[in-house]
Amino acid sequence: MPLKITPPVGARTLAGRTLGRTLGTAERTAKQGVRWALGHGLPRTAIVRSARKGDLQGDLILSGPGSHTFDLVDLFEEFRARGPLYQGGFSHLAVDHEVIKEVLTSNDFVTGFFAPDESGTGLLARAATWSASDVFAPLQPPSLLATEPPEHTRYRKLVTRVFTVRAVEKLRDRTAQIAADLLDDIEEEAAASRMSVDLVTRYCGLLPITVISEVLGVPVELRERMLELGKGAALSLDIGLDWRTFREMEASLEEFDTWLRGHLAYLAEHPGDDLLSQLVALRDDGDRLSDKELRAIAGLVFAAGFETTVNLIGNGIALLNDNPDQLEILRARPELWSNAADEILRLDPPVLLTGRVARRNSTIAGQEIPRGTIINTVLAAANRDPKVFADPHTFDVTRENAREHLSFSGGRHFCLGAALARMEGELGLRLLFERFPDLELVGDRERHPTRILRGYSHLPARLLWPLETSHP
Ligand code: HEM
Repeated sequence: MPLKITPPVGARTLAGRTLGRTLGTAERTAKQGVRWALGHGLPRTAIVRSARKGDLQGDLILSGPGSHTFDLVDLFEEFRARGPLYQGGFSHLAVDHEVIKEVLTSNDFVTGFFAPDESGTGLLARAATWSASDVFAPLQPPSLLATEPPEHTRYRKLVTRVFTVRAVEKLRDRTAQIAADLLDDIEEEAAASRMSVDLVTRYCGLLPITVISEVLGVPVELRERMLELGKGAALSLDIGLDWRTFREMEASLEEFDTWLRGHLAYLAEHPGDDLLSQLVALRDDGDRLSDKELRAIAGLVFAAGFETTVNLIGNGIALLNDNPDQLEILRARPELWSNAADEILRLDPPVLLTGRVARRNSTIAGQEIPRGTIINTVLAAANRDPKVFADPHTFDVTRENAREHLSFSGGRHFCLGAALARMEGELGLRLLFERFPDLELVGDRERHPTRILRGYSHLPARLLWPLETSHP
């Protein structure tokens, strides 16, 4: 007769816990798998399948990671030649300035990737609800980028006043000081090493993150780590990621979220004179914001505050390096720097495209759009619409209507940080080229692997030529 072995109580509890943990891990992995399938695997399969049938859309949405916006210009023209609204197998796609503005400002179109199933009973809706993660993600509700009125209006009101043109003007002197300090550092390094300096890691990335950290009350010492996490998290805007990249991206978001929870808890105990402390206090005031809402607003404003402007400054350096005649114009007429920032945003925008879903049957550009249709609005293509911009592929810092670009989107979701980005772009570029009049990009420029966010990850430059150049 086999011996009946009864494990001691402690061991049983341990086994239970281990089983519980294993089940917990299995469930987490299953949910992660469903999130990947819904956000990346299935859309990728659909896009690739319709690309095989000649659909041009795949070339754009799955364009080679790290490709330059200029590589896509011929594709924009192919879409343009086919009319104002291209009907792809996966979604519709707009490259026309007027049509994109119409979609972005229409109440018939909302943010979000999946066909809105308001009852929440469809298979996709149920799978999305089951697998939803509690971790902050820029394109998941309750992020500003993924909510609509009335919630969106309520959230946005809480943060708008800090980013108005007037409020941003007050940050100008401090921004100039931060830029000057960074330039001092790199000048010292360039003079000592006589080597090229990578302007993205030493300048373009550090300027916006330092400014937004000060506005929000995030310790500046964390900026290098935050930039690292931002790199991983930026991939969350892309579609069709492979499983490994997706997991790495979620790991970055998770670490960011853990830090954010801890930081907000700290501010609840030790409030400062900054925007995040004010948001935390608001939550403590009553039933105004849930923890998740607070993290969504704080996380997005912080991440959007540094993940995009780095590319405006980097893309601007490259354009000005490649077009010395435009730099000459700016030297002679420095009042044009602000317009130059808009012309850079127009020609080489940090955000390639965004998208909207029809929440009811609608009509756009004379075409009937059934409820649930996704329209990808290609901001970078609208910026080269010849109906709006004369000689659209030419970089012209004197262009009178450069500001009509759609790089900050439009309508309810118009970029909250547009004034701040413009000010940082203008100042950041002007101060750099004033300090190093002989700046020259050397060696290989490298681009970020992201598709939606466009910019350089490395821009090696020779700054001092002749080397003994110094400034007062
Ligand atoms: C050159 C730099 C920037 C570019 C090109 C840019 C671009 C954009 C775009 C295209 C959108 C709208 C996306 C959509 O319609 O779906 C957006 C939204 C947003 N941006 Fe920016 N952005 C920049 C800088 C900033 C900065 C510095 C901040 C910091 C406050 C910021 C905060 C936001 C926020 C919070 C939203 C969400 C607004 C909403 O949905 O209501 N952005 N940005």
